[in-house]
Amino acid sequence: MKQENIYPVETLPRTAREALLGQHAVMIWFTGLSGSGKSTLALALERRLHGEGRLCRVLDGDNIRSGINNNLGFSLDDRHENIRRIAEVGKLFVDTGVITIAAFISPTDRMRELARGIIGEEDFFEIYVDTPLEVCEARDVKGLYKKARAGLIKEFTGVNSDFEVPARPNLTIDTSKVSLDEGVDIIMKAIGGHIAARQITNICKQ
Ligand code: ADX
Repeated sequence: MKQENIYPVETLPRTAREALLGQHAVMIWFTGLSGSGKSTLALALERRLHGEGRLCRVLDGDNIRSGINNNLGFSLDDRHENIRRIAEVGKLFVDTGVITIAAFISPTDRMRELARGIIGEEDFFEIYVDTPLEVCEARDVKGLYKKARAGLIKEFTGVNSDFEVPARPNLTIDTSKVSLDEGVDIIMKAIGGHIAARQITNICKQ
């Protein structure tokens, strides 16, 4: 929505904060079914990056839905608003120079493109966690597939709500085919160029 009578201020540039941190920020956006391994990969990636001295922040579906988005359900409209708010919050982190890792089902291309548009094409790295539904359902870590099949959860992704295969992910990982460590290795290799510090000076020291 276009706001009237609003005049955003110009803060320090992002590059100043990135210079302080010695890294280049990016949004790593995991999309995939519940139980596909998004959160597990996101947390393992965070640990790996943190261990290498990178400042990261994970934004995860169940955490965000317990707080800032606790007034949203799972209709397409609510999921869209969920993703819009997460992308706006994520943009603040990226603008702070933080490597931001989002793990949300984000089931449609419209939602993923919304997030990409808010964050900005060159800062958005989409990873499709392409674990087959049967595997996610067999894992059923939270017992939600069982509940959905029993008709106790409406609009459950993969059961009675659609998941659109992403049209243009930057990377695809099937966690039934690679180990967690291998998955993180693949991601680290793919994002290496994005997170390396640029030749930038800290303008506050000039
Ligand atoms: S999204 O579709 O809006 O991107 P999000 O990633 O935030 O979803 O939340 C998904 C998590 O909410 C799942 O991992 C699961 O634990 C929980 N959940 C509860 N109800 C549903 C539902 N109807 N569909 C999918 N996930 C659900």
